[in-house]
Order: sequence, then C-alpha cells, then structure tokens
Amino acid sequence: MSLSKTVRQAFKAEFREPPACIVRAPGRVNLIGEHTDYNDGFVFPMAIERATFIALRPRADNKVLAISLDMDDRREFALDALPSPTETEWIDYLVGVAWSLQERGYNLRGWEGVVSGDVPIGSGLSSSAALELVVARAFFEVSGFVWDAAAMALACQAAENEWLGVKCGIMDQMISAAGVRDRALLIDCRSLEATSAPLPPDTVLVILDTNTRRGLVDSAYNERRAQCEAAARHFGVRALRDVDSELFAQREEELEPLMRARARHVITENERTLRARDAMNAGDAATLGHLMIASHFSLRDDFEVSSPALDAIVACANADAACYGARMTGAGFGGCAVALVKADQVEQFVARVGDCYQDATGNESIITVTGASRGAETLYP
Ligand code: GLA
Repeated sequence: MSLSKTVRQAFKAEFREPPACIVRAPGRVNLIGEHTDYNDGFVFPMAIERATFIALRPRADNKVLAISLDMDDRREFALDALPSPTETEWIDYLVGVAWSLQERGYNLRGWEGVVSGDVPIGSGLSSSAALELVVARAFFEVSGFVWDAAAMALACQAAENEWLGVKCGIMDQMISAAGVRDRALLIDCRSLEATSAPLPPDTVLVILDTNTRRGLVDSAYNERRAQCEAAARHFGVRALRDVDSELFAQREEELEPLMRARARHVITENERTLRARDAMNAGDAATLGHLMIASHFSLRDDFEVSSPALDAIVACANADAACYGARMTGAGFGGCAVALVKADQVEQFVARVGDCYQDATGNESIITVTGASRGAETLYP
C-alpha cells in the first residue's frame, strides 16, 4: 500500500472522518556539489521518491496533535507554549518548524494528523529535511499563508540550525521544498536561484546504501565547516565560493596543509558542479560520470568525509561497465553513494554491485533505482 493511503487510513481510523488533505515532502540524493552549500557554493540534488506524508485536518484551537506511525507515538503541543527540545526526538522537528515559522512572523493555526515516511533515517538521504518540509506544508495548509519554496527552506534550515542544533547548509531543505519531477536542480546556495535539468538520455540514478550509519557526524561536520570558514577568512572573502582555482593556485602555499586540502575540495567541487550542469544540458553522461568520480576522490582525500564502506561500494560501481560514475552522497562517513547508470543495464548493475560489495566488506547493501519527484506538495484524498 502506498504511504499516502496508509496515512489516510490511519487518519480515518483515529478521527472517524477522512483527512482534509495529505501533504508530502521528499528526501533527496545529491548528484554532485558536496559540502559546498555552507560555502555559498553550488549543489545539484534531486528530490527522490521516498518521502514523508501527513494526513491532517485543521483544529479550532492552537494545538498540534501528531501521531507518528513509524515511532508508534502520539504527541501534542500548543503553539503559544512550545516545549523546549530535549534530546532530539521526532516531535522536536515539528516544534522546531513551528518555532521558526512563528519567529518569522507567520500566523500559525493548529492541526491534527498522522505522520509516516519511508526515507531511511541516518542514511544521508535527508529524512530530517523531509520531515521539516512536510510539517511546514501542513502549517501552510491550515494557516493560509503564501507558500514560497525558498522561504520555507530557510525557515526549516533555521529550525534545524537553531532549534535542533545541527549546523547544516541549505541544500536538503531547498531540494525538499523545490524539487521538480524528472529533473535535478542546480542550486546557487548564495542567491537560492535554482535551475532544473534532466538526467542524460538513457541513464538512471541508483542509490547505493552501504547499510552503515554515520557516527559522530555532527562534530566532524561542524569541524569541516569551521575549517572552510577559516580558509575563507584567510583569503579575505565572504565564503570559499569567492575563490576560484586560479586564485587558489597563486596562494595555496600560504595555507597550512589541512586547511589547504579542505579548501581545495570546496573550490574544485564548485567548478565540477558547474561543469556537471553543462554536461547535463548537453546530455553528456560520460562527462557527468567523470565529474562524479573526481568528486568522490576529492571528498575522500582532501575533505576526508568518506568511509571504507563508501569507498568499497563506489569502487564496485565504478568498476562496472554499466556505470558512468559513482560517488558518496550527503554528509558522508557512511550512508549512501549515488551512481549514474545505463538504463538498459541497470538490473545487472544492481546485482553485480551488491555481490561485489558483499565480497569486499561482508555486508549487505540496499540498492534502489530512483526517479526524481516533486518537492513538498499537497495531495487531496
Ligand atoms: C548534509 C547537510 C547539507 C550539506 C551536505 C553535504 O546533508 O545537511 O546541508 O552540507 O551534508 O553536502
């Protein structure tokens, strides 16, 4: 049964009438442009079919009552007396989004509903952003404000940064808000301007989940951010986005080796991402694949956010004749890689990479082909 049916049925069982609407927001996979968003750079993600759904109806008071099917939990809070976050629990995402929207002057009304999603948690496919955006969409439906994808993404990012204490960039929220069916989105993370492009003809994207989950990722992530900010200060610019490889080549010796490597990743990754856009527009799968492979090496060697499991699955994919290129995707340290694959050979690719990864690591992977879905949206029952 589809998730939208699942939440609709659970809603009916609980509230004895059909929901007023069902809202949905997707997870994402990033083709290229990794650890560039918080450097004001370029990213190239795609909204995936896996998503979080809420079936809901408005309430007359200012309370939110949410039932999570996945957590088997039921929580309620009042919009004028938000409970502070404790350790991060699912309800903290709902409260955080309510807090952030109200901080930004949105006049919110209450709702009640049933939540469920199939974006795997902690795998690098942005289950958090999917939950945040679907909650923003629920508030939009009952409160009647204007839906602006970039404004919603920024509000959800602020919820994550300030309420939940995770210093993520804007990529995940932006693609979950603004995804376009059958297309990836090149996002300029400074202006938030987004342009879409389809995958090259006869190719599909495959998500390679190493089935390893990230540990200590937040502290490593924040450390990388701080190193990038220090490098930008050294160059006297607002963000590493403002340094190109020519300037870097002239002055890289001034940086100590670790900071130099971190900066080199960001600067070359921004350039690769813009070249990836050109390759996509030209329908050039071979070039796009090469850029993805180069991105992985840069993340592994210069930015040091890969892991043995990610390197193993990426090596299996890149050795396969059906693959144009594969790389880790998301923050790193575990979770998923992404591969651009010849559509007519994808089944064999999936089988071969699964075997290769198992031989190399002893682990089972979870490999799925994904299309590009729309960003946050409303479905009517
Ligand atoms: C996580 C963050 C994003 C981005 C990626 C790395 O997904 O939430 O903002 O920084 O890592 O590209």
